[in-house]
Amino acid sequence: FVRTPSVCLSESSSRAAAISLLFCPWYLSYSVQEELKRGSVIGNIAKDLGLEVGRLSARKARVDMEGSDRQYCGINLRNGDLLVADRIDREEHCGEKPSCVLKFDLLLENPLELHRLNLQVQDVNDNAPVFPKDIIKLEIRESAVKGARYRINAAQDADIGKNSVESYILQQNPHFVFSIQTTSAGSKYGELVLDKELDREEQQEMKLLLTAVDGGSPQRSGTVVIHVIVLDANDNAPVFTEAVYTAALPENSPLKTKVIIVSATDADEGVNGEVTYEFSRLSDKSQKLFSLDEKTGEISVTGDIDYEEGSKYEVFVEAKDGYGLSSEAKVIIDVTDVNDNAPVLYLKSLSNPIPENSSPGTQVGIINVQDRDSENNRQVRCSIQQNVPFKLVPSIKNYYSLVTTGQLDRELVSDYNITITATDEGSPPLSSSKTVELSVADINDNTPVFEEQSYSAYVTENNKPGSTLCSVTARDPDWRQNGTVIYSLLAGEVNGAPVSSYLSVNGDTGVIHAVRSFDYEQFRSFKVHVMARDNGSPPLSSNVTISVFISDVNDNSPQILYPAPEGNSFMTELVPKAAHGGSLVSKVIAVDADSGQNAWLSYHIVKSTDPGLFTIGLHSGEIRTQRDISESDSMKQNLIVAVKDNGQPSLSATCSMYLLISDNLAEVKPRLLFDGAVAIPSAYLPPNYADVDGTGTLRSTYNYDAYLTTGSRTSDFKFVTSYNDNTLPADQTLKKSLTDFADAFGDCDTSPEVGKAVKSFYTYFYYCRFTLVQ
Ligand SMILES: *[C@@H]1O[C@H](CO)[C@@H](O)[C@H](O)[C@H]1NC(C)=O
Ligand SMILES: *[C@@H]1O[C@H](CO)[C@@H](O)[C@H](O)[C@H]1NC(C)=O
Ligand SMILES: *[C@@H]1O[C@H](CO)[C@@H](O)[C@H](O)[C@H]1NC(C)=O
Repeated sequence: FVRTPSVCLSESSSRAAAISLLFCPWYLSYSVQEELKRGSVIGNIAKDLGLEVGRLSARKARVDMEGSDRQYCGINLRNGDLLVADRIDREEHCGEKPSCVLKFDLLLENPLELHRLNLQVQDVNDNAPVFPKDIIKLEIRESAVKGARYRINAAQDADIGKNSVESYILQQNPHFVFSIQTTSAGSKYGELVLDKELDREEQQEMKLLLTAVDGGSPQRSGTVVIHVIVLDANDNAPVFTEAVYTAALPENSPLKTKVIIVSATDADEGVNGEVTYEFSRLSDKSQKLFSLDEKTGEISVTGDIDYEEGSKYEVFVEAKDGYGLSSEAKVIIDVTDVNDNAPVLYLKSLSNPIPENSSPGTQVGIINVQDRDSENNRQVRCSIQQNVPFKLVPSIKNYYSLVTTGQLDRELVSDYNITITATDEGSPPLSSSKTVELSVADINDNTPVFEEQSYSAYVTENNKPGSTLCSVTARDPDWRQNGTVIYSLLAGEVNGAPVSSYLSVNGDTGVIHAVRSFDYEQFRSFKVHVMARDNGSPPLSSNVTISVFISDVNDNSPQILYPAPEGNSFMTELVPKAAHGGSLVSKVIAVDADSGQNAWLSYHIVKSTDPGLFTIGLHSGEIRTQRDISESDSMKQNLIVAVKDNGQPSLSATCSMYLLISDNLAEVKPRLLFDGAVAIPSAYLPPNYADVDGTGTLRSTYNYDAYLTTGSRTSDFKFVTSYNDNTLPADQTLKKSLTDFADAFGDCDTSPEVGKAVKSFYTYFYYCRFTLVQ
């Protein structure tokens, strides 16, 4: 085993982070005998490369033979042993070459590493010497003198070195010895040397066994029978015009193509000068490719000439005369390459799928390109299709890294078919292409996005619990759970209660339901926040605001604050006898908890003692005399007033108003019975009422909360000029408790005639007012 560092590629340092392939590879060299059993251990790559044995499996360690799909070697991933995986026949791969090196690529992933591995295959003596023929026929004249030599074709042994033919043993005999010779071209042959002259009359023929033995262990041998026939005369052996012939033959030459003509001449005459040709030595492979015309010496093509299968052939031709004298010539046939092999692209490794967040420069695969032709015909350039975020980075030898050039986005492009084309530099060039299918794996990189920036829901009060208010939708283009949106209500409070007691959201559909019935008079709108969250890990989310607007329904009747509702009390208004037409005598005060038209009140006298005497302001509720009071008018006047709102349908309330026409309370006193219980029910006391629209209708302010929380026995009246043009002080706020009102009344009530019997809430003010103004 030998380990040698190879040259580092210059790219390795600059791209170190992204491309781990480009580090310093090693050349490993091992030596192995041919024909070893499968599973035989050649060496240990883990030890030799300093690799962690436990990581070999994860790193997918493997060895591929250059230019072949057959797996001659394998790696035991448990211990790092390099093993024989298939029969390795030295003769098959290297023929007669004295050195036989098989080249492998040792590939590791995560990170990718490539090492070269050379396997020196050692010869074992698995072939025996073989003679070209079983019998060699020699016709020798009896006149031949001692020392005469006769050529014998050598035996062949496919093994090399000492495993090839080493010596010859000639059967013991009285006439011949055997001698080994070497030609000027370097090839060996044997010679039968006459040691004792022949006598045809004594022995006409003889058969001698010649054995060729190799130097291997165990030794192997082959035999031939030399049949010697003793004749009268044959002096000259044929002579070739060249000792070595060379021919160039383009590969793919058609059958019957002439390769070369060999020629030998024999100086003898007749049969002794008739030369015939035959192959004396040729490999099995050559035998299938070439034929030799026995008469003309023409060698022609009989098989498929493929440069990639064999670029050089050596055959030996024997020329023989009629009586067996022969000579031999060597023919070297050089096959010339034709660009007949397109480059082949191999995908050696692929990380598929690749996460979309892979940074630019990430290596996703390794491509290997091979071209079986030679020289320019095997120079290959690789290119990648345009418009994909990938490029090829040349790496060691004929390896390329497939590397990302930009950010990937699965939501834009989820699959790539990357076409890689390899073109050689032959003429014409050949090319081939390969498509690498690559998927982009999802990363949870998209937040769910609501279709609207905010949502509004409108609901009429008194809705049914469970009714649908609106629905929200958020989109997330990620894959599967990373893009599955779940909706939920964010915790919060509305009026001090959790939002979940008002609304619910369907987690899957985003449909929002009311949980309870809403009351416009309680609140008119509120906001909630809904979150859309995906199911990734960690999840991504976004929030949206939903404003819920409750619209009013005319579900509140007008409430009459003054006078007290019918049947509760009998408050009486005092009308001076001297009142002229148009005098203000009283006012009906009502409120409506609804809003807008539903709270726009109108006042109507529905019944009266004297229909011509009093009118009521349609919207002010002010009761005025229609004409001057006359003596004939009845002292006691009763009115029934209806207060209606403007809702659809409209709601109403009624009250009774008792009026007493008199100038003198003393005069009235004995005759009129009052209940004496002139009380203003505190419940009717509006805490914060203001007449802001000038219609005379007291409207509640918007804030219902404040309405509820103000102290029950404190009131805050605000009088506005338009309330009554000529009487009330402008914008004067009185803030008084009930007792203060009583005191105020006392203060105002400078007239001793005004008795407590006529104390009614509203009258106080009119008395005060009159007093103040006059
Ligand atoms: C990639 O090629 C395969 C096989 O031809 C085909 O089914 C697939 O739709 C192609 N994908 C793209 C993104 O073009
Ligand atoms: C979701 O994204 C995560 C990374 O954010 C990834 O690991 C996971 O494989 C993705 N799920 C799917 C189904 O693609
Ligand atoms: C959504 O609201 C929650 C709760 O108030 C908060 O924690 C989160 O940061 C918000 N998310 C976004 C995207 O605004």
